[in-house]
Amino acid sequence: MANNNHHEPSLFSHEKIETSNFLMIVLTLVVILFGGLVEIVPLFFQRSTTQPVEGVKPYTALQLAGRDVYIREGCYNCHSQMIRPFRAETLRYGHYSMAGEFVYDHPFQWGSKRTGPDLHRVGGKYSDQWHVAHLTNPRDVVPESNMPAYPWLLGATIDPKSMAPRMEALRLVGVPYSDAEVKAAADEVKDKTEMDALVAYLQVMGTAVK
Ligand code: HEC
Repeated sequence: MANNNHHEPSLFSHEKIETSNFLMIVLTLVVILFGGLVEIVPLFFQRSTTQPVEGVKPYTALQLAGRDVYIREGCYNCHSQMIRPFRAETLRYGHYSMAGEFVYDHPFQWGSKRTGPDLHRVGGKYSDQWHVAHLTNPRDVVPESNMPAYPWLLGATIDPKSMAPRMEALRLVGVPYSDAEVKAAADEVKDKTEMDALVAYLQVMGTAVK
């Protein structure tokens, strides 16, 4: 009994750690940090996550402008771009999404909220006219739809001067735009509306994989 009372726990014994807030917090952080490194660091070097899937190209200037409209309007609040590798998903949406399809997406639009359907393979599913009608007023083509209408996209034009800086910013994070592409960007979006751009973006989504 006397022995127990005078027992001095050794450094890093469970008793010492579990009765010290400081040690508990620091060592928990060390464990999480190590676990995180082991899981995450290899992804930066794995081919399947860093190399584009065959056929995936950087967005054209018009598609890129459309993607920015998609982000600005918060389409991701209701739509994911991530088809999971389950039968129910691939039957409904098509081939499951692969990491290499998103290498030029900064930031990713994967999401998980699905008030509306997943959009990753919506490219080519409808005509351009369908998209314009749907985005102008979803109820005109899908009577039971509760998606908001975006009629102002028809009247808003893209600022051609804004495209080069956007593409140069993406170049910094690894999207291989050539000087010629950056230079041609302004002409490509000249007189285009935000509706044109958004539809161009929707129509290329997920089309690299058949
Ligand atoms: C409040 C939730 C909500 C928001 C925000 C929203 N949607 Fe939707 N979306 C839906 C719902 C619900 C449907 C299914 C009914 C329909 O087709 O309209 C849908 C359907 C779609 C479809 C047809 C998909 C298919 O496979 O049939 C497209 C394309 C689409 N949305 C694009 C967009 C875009 C682009 C934006 C942003 C400008 C957007 N949505 C914003 C809810 C939303």
